[in-house]
Amino acid sequence: MRIDILTILPKLLESPFQHSILKRAIENKIAEVYLHDIREFSTNKHKNVDDYPYGGGAGMVMTCQPIASAIEHLKKERNYDEIIYLTPDGERHNQKIANQLSLKKNIMMICGHYKGIDQRIRDLFITKEISIGDYVLSGGELAAAVLADSIIRIIPGAISDETSALTDSFQDDLLSPPVYTRPEEFNGLKVPEILFSGDPIKIDNWRMEMAEKITKERRPDLLKD
Ligand code: ADE
Repeated sequence: MRIDILTILPKLLESPFQHSILKRAIENKIAEVYLHDIREFSTNKHKNVDDYPYGGGAGMVMTCQPIASAIEHLKKERNYDEIIYLTPDGERHNQKIANQLSLKKNIMMICGHYKGIDQRIRDLFITKEISIGDYVLSGGELAAAVLADSIIRIIPGAISDETSALTDSFQDDLLSPPVYTRPEEFNGLKVPEILFSGDPIKIDNWRMEMAEKITKERRPDLLKD
């Protein structure tokens, strides 16, 4: 999979891809991630990328030209399965969307700033709009990092123990059961006996019961569907 991210702050997005699972996935050629500075595509002599909104009001709007030029430049090189705009008014991100996107070959992500991007870019180029939650971030960069992480980590081979991604919270609409490691007792709290039973069926059943209990308590909405 290849992910191209268009941003006015490429430096902000470097670090998330330089550590842990994402770093390894990129090193192992499971994923390629390229950051593109929208400002470099601006034909304005000051390299401006924003302007005042028509109709007035607070905040600036990201102009069409630099974003359109960047998108067109990339589209000349390859076909994109999705061109995603990260925005708080997009479809709320979830595991199902991450699973679907993890099957794609080429994805482009556009990070907005200020009051957002000119609507005509959305009308002309964007195939999917995603929000990572009902709150507003300073820009789309952190949202793009979250989206890319959720996609890359589930590409087969990204996590060494593949079943580990399959047993994540949300993969079966359940939150994860509690996990324990050494020592057997910490500050008076013991690891549940069943985990020492050596009986994989009993342990699986216990994990399922705990996952259902925790989901019922914390996210009953997940059990409704
Ligand atoms: N840009 C600003 N806030 C955002 C959010 N919640 N999700 C996606 N992109 C955003």
